[in-house]
Amino acid sequence: MKRSIVKILGIAADVLMFVIMLLQMLYVFMGNTLHEILGICFFACLVFHLVLKRKWIKALLTGKLRKAGKAQKLAAVITCLLLGCTAVLMFSSMGVSRTIFPWFKLLGSADLHRYLASAVFGLMAVHGCMYGYVRAKRKKRAAVLTVLAGVACVSFGLFGVPYLNRHFRTVDISYAAAVTGEKAEWKGSEPLVVYFTRVGNTDLEPDVDAVSGASLLLADGELMGSNRLLADMLTDIIGCEAKAVTVTGKKYPSGYGATVSVAIDELRDKARPEIVPIDVSGYENIILVYPLWWGTVPPAVSTFLESNDFTGKTVYLIATQGSYGFGSSTEDVKESAPGARVVEVMSIYCDDIPDSRDTLLDWVKRR
Ligand SMILES: Cc1cc2nc3c(=O)[nH]c(=O)nc-3n(C[C@H](O)[C@H](O)[C@H](O)COP(=O)(O)O)c2cc1C
Repeated sequence: MKRSIVKILGIAADVLMFVIMLLQMLYVFMGNTLHEILGICFFACLVFHLVLKRKWIKALLTGKLRKAGKAQKLAAVITCLLLGCTAVLMFSSMGVSRTIFPWFKLLGSADLHRYLASAVFGLMAVHGCMYGYVRAKRKKRAAVLTVLAGVACVSFGLFGVPYLNRHFRTVDISYAAAVTGEKAEWKGSEPLVVYFTRVGNTDLEPDVDAVSGASLLLADGELMGSNRLLADMLTDIIGCEAKAVTVTGKKYPSGYGATVSVAIDELRDKARPEIVPIDVSGYENIILVYPLWWGTVPPAVSTFLESNDFTGKTVYLIATQGSYGFGSSTEDVKESAPGARVVEVMSIYCDDIPDSRDTLLDWVKRR
């Protein structure tokens, strides 16, 4: 093959590796299977890169690099460090793999995997820039760029990725401490709490990890939807009944990103997934607890609303979200439940859900 073509392929593989690594950091938006497949593509590119750089490896192994200049020596040290970290990352990738290498049990720590990925990402940037530096004419500028690229990439891995993933973690709570406590009298006819939550409507594995399960709660070690927790708080405070909106037939995918994609399609198509029927005919007051999905109620909640007659009833809205407010959910509930008096009660930020009992209690007392 012509040298120029090999050179172009080499550069393409290097750029591809960097892009793949960046995408790998955005794991939560891609889901596990694609992450694992891209991981294999990354290591295939690496093998190709190493084959192209075989002369350099030979020079390193035979000690010829001893004659090289300071910058080249430093670049070689960075490269060796990068290779070492990447090798460990490869084993840790297999260790945390759930789809392609589930049988591989070594180095299965997700934290180790994440820290190694950040280190590799940063070292890749420095490695690339170092070789740019060796060839650069304006050394000072190249040195500053090299340091900046390394710091930016490591910082992105260490701080940017956790920030992007801030809602994508499981939170351990004590069920009794979160749910049980002071009671309050509900003035008027006893309400029915109706709630929707991902757990129960999603194909989640019982040992779902923090990354695939956005904003999931482990109540005494058991997976629990955060809106279910709010419903349980309300039933404990008021002493009323709660019913879950449960889809039948299909379930939502376990990955957060995948559910988000399905949800946007459903909302665009105005889908009304089939649900286990909930009869509200015996109630004047319904407390509806739901997560915002794309700024409105999940389609299954619309199914629930549209399959009942809410004329003369009051629907109290308790929304949960990863941003703020009710989005367009209030208007959408009014449209799906004509004849109902719809009252916005509170919108709770997802991280605040486990500590919301007092706020709910206060509302029941005040109303
Ligand atoms: C499909 C989907 C869409 C979402 N859309 C929004 C949104 O538009 N705005 C927002 O603030 N939060 C959004 N969220 C975050 C959820 O509202 C929030 O995490 C909620 O607390 C999840 O409750 P759950 O764990 O009981 O299902 C979305 C979550 C999912 C799964």
